[in-house]
Amino acid sequence: MTFVRNPVILALDVDTIEDARKILDHVGDMIGGVKVGPRLVYKYGASLVQEFSEIAPVFVDNKYFDIPSTMESAVRASFQAGATLVTVHALAGLVALTGLAALEIELNRIRPFKILAVTILTSWENSSFPENFHSWTVENHVRSLSQLVYRSGLRGLVCSGHELEFLSQKDFFKVVPGIRLSSDEAQDQKRVMTPKQAMKSGAQALVVGRTILKSTQPRQTILEILESC
Ligand code: C5P
Repeated sequence: MTFVRNPVILALDVDTIEDARKILDHVGDMIGGVKVGPRLVYKYGASLVQEFSEIAPVFVDNKYFDIPSTMESAVRASFQAGATLVTVHALAGLVALTGLAALEIELNRIRPFKILAVTILTSWENSSFPENFHSWTVENHVRSLSQLVYRSGLRGLVCSGHELEFLSQKDFFKVVPGIRLSSDEAQDQKRVMTPKQAMKSGAQALVVGRTILKSTQPRQTILEILESC
């Protein structure tokens, strides 16, 4: 079952629905999906998700992290708004994730829907970790949390391109942000990867923001990414 139309998920990192619409009018037919987060969702609510889901599959990236019943309600509400992909934190634990895996099965009877677990935020490095995490490296946390996700029955992960290598043995649907064309600057992303490298390493979909949003020729840029995948 496919959750996106092609591997390019556009991160709609803009402040207004007008800006978002302008971009989608221009490139909506070319992208595999569109990612929205609190920046737009809290401002415009569920109707924004509904509207954009008519253009492309919507990835609601609100990274839910709460008690199991609250996470399930949040995920269900996102689905009802029109989301095809949503993110939750793996750190919420096995009980929460197992409940979400059952919910995912239920919702897939209605239409394709995937829950993506986030392990360790890529903005965290060994040096900037909260102290109680210090006895393990970032990589070990990612390994352990991805195994937890797998045990829960969920098969969706958001991970950095560099984590793909040690996750490749698992049949996860892997969504990778931090993508840059070789001509781009990394900006605030610490560890970036080209679309080609990420797809070769086992990504199923890529989250791409500024490379497309700041391009003077966004359609050409998307084409370039798709051709390189
Ligand atoms: O502009 P850029 O391509 O760096 O945008 C990346 C997008 O992916 C942003 O929306 C960012 O919030 C998101 N993201 C990320 N790293 C993660 C998870 C999500 O960059 N680990």
